[in-house]
Amino acid sequence: MTPVAILRKPLAFFMRLKLYAALMVWYIAIIGNDILVVSGDMSSFQQNDYTVEFHHVHLEFFDRKFVRTFDLKNVKPNRTHKAFAMTFNLLTDIKDDGRYKINLKGFRLLGNGLDHLICQFNIDVCQALRKNTFGLMQMIRAGNMTTCPITKGYYYANNFVVDEKKMPPYMPEGRYKVMIAILDGNTPMTRTSLFMDIIYKIKN
Ligand SMILES: *[C@@H]1O[C@H](CO)[C@@H](O)[C@H](O)[C@H]1NC(C)=O
Ligand SMILES: *[C@@H]1O[C@H](CO)[C@@H](O)[C@H](O)[C@H]1NC(C)=O
Repeated sequence: MTPVAILRKPLAFFMRLKLYAALMVWYIAIIGNDILVVSGDMSSFQQNDYTVEFHHVHLEFFDRKFVRTFDLKNVKPNRTHKAFAMTFNLLTDIKDDGRYKINLKGFRLLGNGLDHLICQFNIDVCQALRKNTFGLMQMIRAGNMTTCPITKGYYYANNFVVDEKKMPPYMPEGRYKVMIAILDGNTPMTRTSLFMDIIYKIKN
């Protein structure tokens, strides 16, 4: 299945033009103020304009039919670095058959408890690992996960980071909550929230 993303208003006019220009490389349909992505390849995202500061991850839920244990936490290898560590005990084989998806929802946090969904992506798990989408390969290198098929068993990844250079360009500056769900068809198997700031190196 092809990745799907929906981008919603409101962005500043100029920012929106830049965002559309960038997204047109990957995306086919633009409807009104929303962008409906019907085709694209998120592994080709590239940006060098902003840095990402990760604050914390929060594991919301996992389905015990899918994984027996699942643990994801922040680690701080030293004073300047933030990374993640993950372990899970997978109870089912993940084959490259398009069944498992990663659903990413980017909410911009607006203060006083409000948030605003600005983008959504659905990516095939196996394709994302194979194509190093968002730099996921770093997670594999940091432990004993594999690309698909991922067979039942216990896995770990120590000290991995997300590659900010492979994140979508022209995301508006600010604080974000990214909800990451792994779906079996339409059913969520795990859901995690990741809190982070997007900070532009040069202010517009
Ligand atoms: C901090 O840890 C990271 C990741 O292990 C490493 O790449 C970096 O060089 C370390 N920095 C210092 C100052 O030790
Ligand atoms: C991954 O590594 C852990 C710790 O060394 C080990 O217990 C586990 O069996 C390994 N998993 C697989 C699928 O090889």
